[in-house]
Amino acid sequence: MNNNIQNVSITGIGMYVPEKTLDNAHFESYLDTSDEWITKRTGVKTRHIVEKGTPNSDLSYEAAVKALEMSGVAPEELDLIIVATVTPDRLFPSTACTLQAKLGAGDCGAFDVLAACSGFIYALSIAHGQMALGNVKKVLVVGSEVMSSIIDYNDRGICVLFGDGAGAVVLENVPEDRGSLVDYIIRADGRQGEILYMPAGGSLNPTSFETVKKNMHTVKMEGNKVFKLAIKHMAELAREITQRNGLTLDDIDMVCIHQANIRIVKGVMSALHLDMATKSYNNIDRYGNTTAASIPLCVHDAFKDNRLKKGDKMIILTFGAGLTYAAALMEWGIENTLQDSTAIADTKEAIEEQKITVPAGVNGKKNISMDI
Ligand code: UT7
Repeated sequence: MNNNIQNVSITGIGMYVPEKTLDNAHFESYLDTSDEWITKRTGVKTRHIVEKGTPNSDLSYEAAVKALEMSGVAPEELDLIIVATVTPDRLFPSTACTLQAKLGAGDCGAFDVLAACSGFIYALSIAHGQMALGNVKKVLVVGSEVMSSIIDYNDRGICVLFGDGAGAVVLENVPEDRGSLVDYIIRADGRQGEILYMPAGGSLNPTSFETVKKNMHTVKMEGNKVFKLAIKHMAELAREITQRNGLTLDDIDMVCIHQANIRIVKGVMSALHLDMATKSYNNIDRYGNTTAASIPLCVHDAFKDNRLKKGDKMIILTFGAGLTYAAALMEWGIENTLQDSTAIADTKEAIEEQKITVPAGVNGKKNISMDI
């Protein structure tokens, strides 16, 4: 074991959402709801939904390919793959193991993390811990969800909120001028588990005709309780993570907050006395709440839209089922460069044919954009 703690940073980021979308008019057509209510109360305008039967690992794969391409890391160089999700392909094997096979990665470690909307930060912190121990050098962390597989589309208080999608990052040991993952706080309050949960499908209520008949395989939530706790805990975490790193909130350039409801983001930013327009990035209007994918999708789009720049100090904040809540502090280290979708297509083709041989990056390119 090597105990040298080296600098760790995100060297590639990618995202994927399925093509099919459901806009608010869709819900107006069969539920007692309106575009006005959904927009005003949640901020969601549309969400992407998979074709029925599409597994999570397909979404993870698409996002992972783009993150790997940007970092210039080949799948067989990966030492660890972690997928954060509440909607795995199956309970076991883990989606991370399936993803490993789809990517054509070697026999690296692979496992899923179940921490709901906080899963991505939990996974990042575990990955960083393994890197700090010297056990691994190149890690793929994915947040990916097929929320449409566990949503009751007749429950208007839930179905309008969620969407499907995936985001992925590659972590490497790099010099500090390429950014740094600085700190994490991961917390949970299991006493309040049943204000946001799925009742059946595990050992407590194994799947049966009864559980299906009683609609126990879909998300249940006491939305208003979750709403208030989300604002309280995420605002507290933002203060704590800045203070314990000798920073003030004014030192922070970007806050990416779990995209659950635009009013939650407003609540957190206002509690922190930070300007929402300039210091937060939001894409809930386009994707809805994508649970563990929400943060990587938000960071990805902030970067793509040039709102997150090399050298920026960023806090990411999450809150979700568990209850879990988490924060991470980082300095962003990737330069936004011109988009190049050809190289990404080349990488995918090569992986599909199991022919990846160029660890330094397909076509010798590094840090190309992943937006295709
Ligand atoms: O990612 C995990 C964490 N999840 C979250 O953070 C979600 C947190 N919660 C929320 O975002 C909000 O609580 C909701 C969007 C879920 C609900 O908004 P709210 O302002 O808290 O509304 P509410 O639950 O207090 O309900 C107010 C009213 C109710 O009607 P009555 O009882 O006042 O007649 C609801 O039935 O709004 C009604 N309502 C709707 N009306 C039209 C709930 N959903 C809808 C809807 N369309 N889609």
